[in-house]
Amino acid sequence: MNDAMLWFLNRSTGFVLLGVLTATVVLGVLTVRGRAGSRVPVFVSRALHRNLSLFGTALLVAHIATAVADEFVDIRWWHAVVPWGAAYEPLGVAVGTLATDLVIAVMVTTAVRARLGLGGWQRVHQLAYLAWALGLGHGLVIGTDTGETWALVGYSSAVGLVAAAVVARSLAPHPTAREARPA
Ligand code: HEM
Repeated sequence: MNDAMLWFLNRSTGFVLLGVLTATVVLGVLTVRGRAGSRVPVFVSRALHRNLSLFGTALLVAHIATAVADEFVDIRWWHAVVPWGAAYEPLGVAVGTLATDLVIAVMVTTAVRARLGLGGWQRVHQLAYLAWALGLGHGLVIGTDTGETWALVGYSSAVGLVAAAVVARSLAPHPTAREARPA
């Protein structure tokens, strides 16, 4: 695969990844105070939230792999987890790396949730907001397409959707203990 193709794939996976992360965060926010029997049953939104996060992980791997494979930019595989030392766009890459580290922390703690207990798991899970915000900031700082109208519409829509979900949740009635119980 040539560098032009890798560059295209890197940029497109970056945008789709941000969209999937945004949808995952929105579903997560709405599910916390979702009520069984509302228009979308809680078990459906939770399953969607989980499956979208797995899809996002696959996209993140593809996004990083294309950045590392593209020889036009000097990015090594360890820059995916170590947020310093990249020769290419060090700040932009570091912000993406921090987002990736937080995504890994959220995924790993979810896999061992039974051992962590609900409180510990929830505290780490809140970092998903920061991961999403850092991912968005990374795209704005490093992306070739940041100046394009369609890209700015995409970034603004992502912010608007997460903000709307947070507002909607804060206005929603508190669920009963049984409804709030995590799946
Ligand atoms: C959750 C983590 C991440 C998200 C949500 C994300 C998302 C994005 C987005 C939206 C863009 C903008 C694409 C464009 O403007 O065309 C982008 C660009 C880029 N990302 Fe990421 N990214 C993440 C992590 C990483 C990591 C860890 C690396 C490298 C180790 C990386 C490398 C790059 C590079 C090199 C570009 C620039 C592509 C260009 O030339 O426009 N990203 N990313």
